[in-house]
Amino acid sequence: MKIAVSGKGGSGKSTVAAQLVRCFTLHQKPVFAVDADPDANLGLVLGLDPEELDKLRPLVELQDVIEAKNYGGGALVDLNPNVNDVLENYTLQEECLRFLKMGAIKQGGSACYCKENSFLNSVLTTMLLDREEAVVMDMSAGIEHLTRGTSRGIKMMLVVVEPTRAGLNTALAVDRLAGDLEIDQVLFVGNKIRTEADREYLESSLPPDRFAGMVAFSEQVLERARRGEPLVSTEGDLLPGLEKIYKQVCGR
Ligand SMILES: Nc1ncnc2c1ncn2[C@@H]1O[C@H](COP(=O)(O)OP(=O)(O)O)[C@@H](O)[C@H]1O
Ligand SMILES: [Mg+2]
Repeated sequence: MKIAVSGKGGSGKSTVAAQLVRCFTLHQKPVFAVDADPDANLGLVLGLDPEELDKLRPLVELQDVIEAKNYGGGALVDLNPNVNDVLENYTLQEECLRFLKMGAIKQGGSACYCKENSFLNSVLTTMLLDREEAVVMDMSAGIEHLTRGTSRGIKMMLVVVEPTRAGLNTALAVDRLAGDLEIDQVLFVGNKIRTEADREYLESSLPPDRFAGMVAFSEQVLERARRGEPLVSTEGDLLPGLEKIYKQVCGR
């Protein structure tokens, strides 16, 4: 299953992405956890070692690899170099989990063919279209890492939305972007739901058949975030609503 998680900053993308990743690992399913948000913190939320995370180089910064794989231009440009070794050597591994950081995408005007972006594209294409492992990508609201090519590999985009007007507006904007990229399924995840009114607000504002589920507001999550502690290590740490979303995601 190849999933992208998007939504407004602070809506809970990294939280939901990390919890989904943990659903996969708790079921012993091999999974790539991809931090594709320039405001990167998925690794910490997953509880990976901060020192190891600091040492892990984001893909856009692998100049040596990018040059060696001939993204440098010239007559002998290999349009589709094998990047499976990158998924071995530039990921943090913990049992069936492989974690990688994409890094901030380089903007190059309307026609950007810079080599870093081609390299990111190859790695994403390999992960999304060639490899068997599940993928959970933690994205920004801009979903700028996806192109028309790589978006074919995404089977589902989850748009995390808080029950506020601003949250809704961003969620709807992300939904339109995802539509432009022709992503198969774009489903909303209501997050930080405290009351029945929160739930009703989202249900009345978004199409009912477009919900993957709702996640309750959790004091425990907030407390752990304050202390900088990982969110999930055992099944008991999964937020109410998450296992249901995981089953839906896997069942579709
Ligand atoms: N269901 C929840 N209950 C309580 N706090 C939450 C919940 N989901 C997210 N948070 C908190 O909200 C903040 C933003 O969440 P985060 O996942 O980092 O958002 P994003 O990745 O979208 O910027 C964090 O402090 C996180 O702990
Ligand atoms: Mg985040």
